[in-house]
Amino acid sequence: MVKTAVLPLVCALLASVAQAQTAPQPSAQRAAELVRMVRQDCGSCHGMRLTGGLGPALTREALVGKPPNYLSAVIFHGIAGTPMPPWSAMLQEGEALWIAEQLAQGFPEEPLTTAPQR
Ligand code: HEC
Repeated sequence: MVKTAVLPLVCALLASVAQAQTAPQPSAQRAAELVRMVRQDCGSCHGMRLTGGLGPALTREALVGKPPNYLSAVIFHGIAGTPMPPWSAMLQEGEALWIAEQLAQGFPEEPLTTAPQR
């Protein structure tokens, strides 16, 4: 009875498509890593305060009206023909969307107390 086995899977897939607008919350440790990466790596082009540099400002004010899906696509795929590189090697797609959502809300500061332990 393949049909009955497949049905729950199809439902799960449909549910995940319906929820695709909102990024899954990364673990606290991964969130700290992502914040650090954006502050440091993205900051090297977008400014240490994300107020712009080689790349445009990524502050909440600057991103008003830009949908998180657009921002996450830019983060994940880059913008061909510009210095904006793709981050698909460093990030899951959900993480790119999470970053996009954080940027749109005003990006968090790097938490000083949770430096990654290695
Ligand atoms: C090597 C420099 C560089 C780095 C590093 C970089 N960017 Fe960019 N980014 C740019 C440039 C330049 C643009 C503008 C491209 C254009 O001309 O449209 C841009 C555009 C963007 C945009 C679109 C902004 C808008 O208003 O449409 C977003 C979002 C963005 N970058 C996010 C990021 C994030 C997040 C990171 C780190 C994960 C990052 N960038 C790292 C150079 C960079």
